[in-house]
Amino acid sequence: MACPSSHFSPSLHPQHANMKNLISTLLLLFMPLVAAADNGLRCAKSVFTQPDVRFMQKIKSIHADAVIGVKGLPSGLQWNARRNLVEGKVKAPGTYTYTVTSSINGQVSEEQIKLTVSDKLPMPLPFMGWLSWNSVEGDVSEAIVKRVADMFRANGLYQAGWNTVMMDDLWQARKRADDGKPLPDPKRFPNSLRSVADYVHAKGMKFGLYTDAADKTCAGAFGSYNYERIDAQQYAQWNVDIVKCDYCNAPPEQDTAIVRYRRLGYAFKAVARPITLYICEWGDRRPWLWGAESGGSCWRVSADVRDRWTCEPGGTGVVESIKAMKNIAQYAGVNRFNDADMLCTGLHGKGKSSNDLCFGTPGMTQDEYATQFALWCMWSSPMALSFDPRANTVTKEDLKILTNRHLIALNQDRMGQQADFISDADSLVMFAKDLENGDVALSVTNMSGKPLEATFHFTQIPALDANKRYQCRDLWTGEKLSAVKHSFTTKVRPHATRVFRLSL
Ligand code: GLA
Repeated sequence: MACPSSHFSPSLHPQHANMKNLISTLLLLFMPLVAAADNGLRCAKSVFTQPDVRFMQKIKSIHADAVIGVKGLPSGLQWNARRNLVEGKVKAPGTYTYTVTSSINGQVSEEQIKLTVSDKLPMPLPFMGWLSWNSVEGDVSEAIVKRVADMFRANGLYQAGWNTVMMDDLWQARKRADDGKPLPDPKRFPNSLRSVADYVHAKGMKFGLYTDAADKTCAGAFGSYNYERIDAQQYAQWNVDIVKCDYCNAPPEQDTAIVRYRRLGYAFKAVARPITLYICEWGDRRPWLWGAESGGSCWRVSADVRDRWTCEPGGTGVVESIKAMKNIAQYAGVNRFNDADMLCTGLHGKGKSSNDLCFGTPGMTQDEYATQFALWCMWSSPMALSFDPRANTVTKEDLKILTNRHLIALNQDRMGQQADFISDADSLVMFAKDLENGDVALSVTNMSGKPLEATFHFTQIPALDANKRYQCRDLWTGEKLSAVKHSFTTKVRPHATRVFRLSL
């Protein structure tokens, strides 16, 4: 793997006892030699788009003096040398390749990129859904899943775009059936999972469940390791659309994770029904480098989010999510989304696992919940709510945040670009997101505890032309503001985020 480089820490594990494993361990030991030939390029190697939909791929190098170029672009795509990106539209579905070149002091290295153009991609847009873990944990049941689907319809979330209901860990029975097939807990799921999936589908939503690439899941239920094909077949028979695959109880090396997820990805591809693979190894093995090649359409980039602004040490609040996402934007795109984990909007400190690890009172302010949502939209991160439908914690204010159509349009933009990090000077974190119609979304988050003024300088934002005048819309209010040129200044409340859409 040359673009980008991979790092391994090969070690002899007890399970490497037999000859086959010894050989793969030896191979592993030699891999770092290959990885050492790092050409400095930092880009995705498998990229995706829909036919005739504007596509964009950003190419980065760790060498400031590298001259990046591209060869063999399919018809409809162009190289933007000012911004080091490929852009354009490809009309015909198919698989295309092109070559990225990097030249440093006359020394040229190359990287092959595979572009899949298809109207049948597993995840053309990041999912917007619900996951049971943060508040429901081991209570997940047929009744709860159905209630969430009903709630999505009743409170306008479905109409705003929220479209996927997923069971997290502990939906499983204590053990598999005698023939090895997976089984749901018989008390909490008195009817077949197929009927639960059918219920969710009848409401117009997708249905998902959870497993793990090891013998056991994080909470101790059975995992899918060595049962990949049986599980894929059963999930297909249940009409499952998406599967979150965790990585607890699995060996730590990146290579092993690649193999284990690939086994799941292949098993899912082999069944009659399309099943989307959602990788969850918390970003520890940099899945943005290999997740798409393993058949994944999105992957977690951090440890579990907590219902907190910050959660050091050990946890992930909004502050830590920003750290995890800010330098990996070029790896995200259509059908290969970086996932910043569940949203805590609607929990108000009443969740279960979303409360542990951090000291102090759980829960966030409304501005902090809004910031979390705004950033997930800027990043085109998959979004999963995680409220308990029995607890009535989702307020009108929460729904106002979660159904904001201007922000959802950013998350669901068909070009699938994750916003680029612009700066974090003076406690103001800024991002800029390229949109399919050529518009640019700008966000600024006030990381401090006092109100601040923020100025966007167009010369610092590559997506903007500093000489042009842009129409500007405030995306929280939907209000059209005066046109802007060169720069503009806005006020931001503590821990709040302002978001603007600029159009020519
Ligand atoms: C891990 C995952 C969580 C959740 C739990 C379930 O911690 O990161 O999102 O799925 O396991 O046990």
